Amino acid sequence: MERTRVAVLVSGAGTNLRALLDACARPEYPAQIVLVMSNRPSAPALELARAARVDAVAMPVSQFGGDGSARDRALRDLLRAAAVELVVCAGYDRMLGEVVLEAFPDAIINIHPSLLPAFGGGMRAVEEALEYGVKVSGCTVQLLEAGEPDGGPIILQGTVAVLENDDVDSLRQRIHEQEWRLVPEAVALWCRGRLRREGRRVRLLPAGQPEGGAAAPALSAVTRREEKRR
Ligand code: GRF
Repeated sequence: MERTRVAVLVSGAGTNLRALLDACARPEYPAQIVLVMSNRPSAPALELARAARVDAVAMPVSQFGGDGSARDRALRDLLRAAAVELVVCAGYDRMLGEVVLEAFPDAIINIHPSLLPAFGGGMRAVEEALEYGVKVSGCTVQLLEAGEPDGGPIILQGTVAVLENDDVDSLRQRIHEQEWRLVPEAVALWCRGRLRREGRRVRLLPAGQPEGGAAAPALSAVTRREEKRR
């Protein structure tokens, strides 16, 4: 099995990175993490990556004189040089520039700690859900694309009931637990060619069935490699 080459972009603790590293350690898992990049040199996620012997790079915008687009071009070049096929934003707290989005169409996965489209577009999704008083929250795994922040097509969502005595920490913890399950699952679906995008909808294809006359090919590194060969 040829494993899909994945880069993970992080800014913080890296618990989702940990979940993906654990998944990649399983022999049947269809992805390998070849690169971890953080905009924050002090992110604990970088240490996690290094401990797992994965290339870990810090690329703070300050290193590019504060020029975000220069940083984005360097990031795109780094991803290409590592022959990355799928990018996962796992707690990455900066917007990705268009040069990166255009270089990886439908091949950047993002995780957001709310049931989108509710509480999108910011870093306070868990706080906002509690303040609003919702009874159900959760997380969303989506494809990233240009336009509205957190507005990309949805791959998977997981729900979490808000309990009467929840505070931000307790709700965040249960949302995180859903993320640790759904991020590796979404990555595996992408890598196995089990996702097909139809407009805003991302369809989950049944396992092991040929595509048979589909208008759009499934998303996967295999279809991307075939497109390149043509
Ligand atoms: C996650 O809750 C994710 O939804 C959000 O940032 C958090 C990252 O957590 N975008 P971690 O660094 O993976 O622990």
